[in-house]
Amino acid sequence: MLKNRNLIQPSDFSLEELTEIFDFADEIIKKPEDYTHICDGKLLGSLFFEPSTRTRLSFESAMNRLGGRVVGFSESSSSSVAKGESLSDTIRTVACYTDIIVMRHPKEGAPTHAIDRCPVPLINAGDGGHEHPTQTLTDLLTIRNAKGSFNNLKIGLCGDLKFGRTVHSLVNAMSRYDGNEFYFISPEELKMPRYIVEKSLKSRDITYHEVEKLEDIIDQLDILYMTRVQKERFFNEADYVRLKDSYILDKEKISPAKKDMIILHPLPRVTEIKIEVDDDDRAWYFKQAKYGMYVRMSLISKLLGVK
Ligand code: NCD
Repeated sequence: MLKNRNLIQPSDFSLEELTEIFDFADEIIKKPEDYTHICDGKLLGSLFFEPSTRTRLSFESAMNRLGGRVVGFSESSSSSVAKGESLSDTIRTVACYTDIIVMRHPKEGAPTHAIDRCPVPLINAGDGGHEHPTQTLTDLLTIRNAKGSFNNLKIGLCGDLKFGRTVHSLVNAMSRYDGNEFYFISPEELKMPRYIVEKSLKSRDITYHEVEKLEDIIDQLDILYMTRVQKERFFNEADYVRLKDSYILDKEKISPAKKDMIILHPLPRVTEIKIEVDDDDRAWYFKQAKYGMYVRMSLISKLLGVK
């Protein structure tokens, strides 16, 4: 039963519950006109304490397309947080006005504190460098539509694996399905955090490889998940400048890849994928953005219990 639940990290939902969300998202994709009023009269609180374009607008588009409405803010300087209000008071107050809340916060763990006093379902739309579960729902729905299943895939994650919250959540989620193998492609300084490797992979005996060169393994992959170097999470500008162009995907680099490999990216991209790659059939990142809206429509409906 998903009604009234929170989503802080992907493991909050069982595999059956995830399937329920994807099945309903696929139903919406097939016949969106059947669902344009299922959230009539419902209000979403959209609280973005950290900048966002895609995630915020895809949530807001999702709610609007279901017939619901949205209130909120897109930067904390325009809320009472600027007056010194605590996060839990802000959430508790917004919960008096709305039926469901989505929040993004720069601090790791912020939504875990916020749910304590939140009487309506709360969705984590990204907490610092920690987790980003609705991006993972987006990634999974895209993978299911491209590959037909979540099993026996060779998944390459490339770029900033240290600070990139989307790859943390994706590894947590994909390691729950059988037969997957991971390739972590990053500079030494931006490696996948050890706590993720221990928790999601080693404890389940899942095979993973850590490499620095994408060229060495690209021909093995079924999925290549590119990420941006997370400028805002660096302590030192010089380190960012040195590492920011570690990987630049172009036509030549993808030529040895399998014909049915898919390239994913949570977006925004900076320099890590050249525009020339966009026309390749393997480039799925804009389709992925669209799946993101549909999966959020499904998630909102399920948590509100309207479906
Ligand atoms: C990601 C994020 O915010 O973590 N973007 C997104 O939600 N689509 C990835 C990023 O900012 O690099």
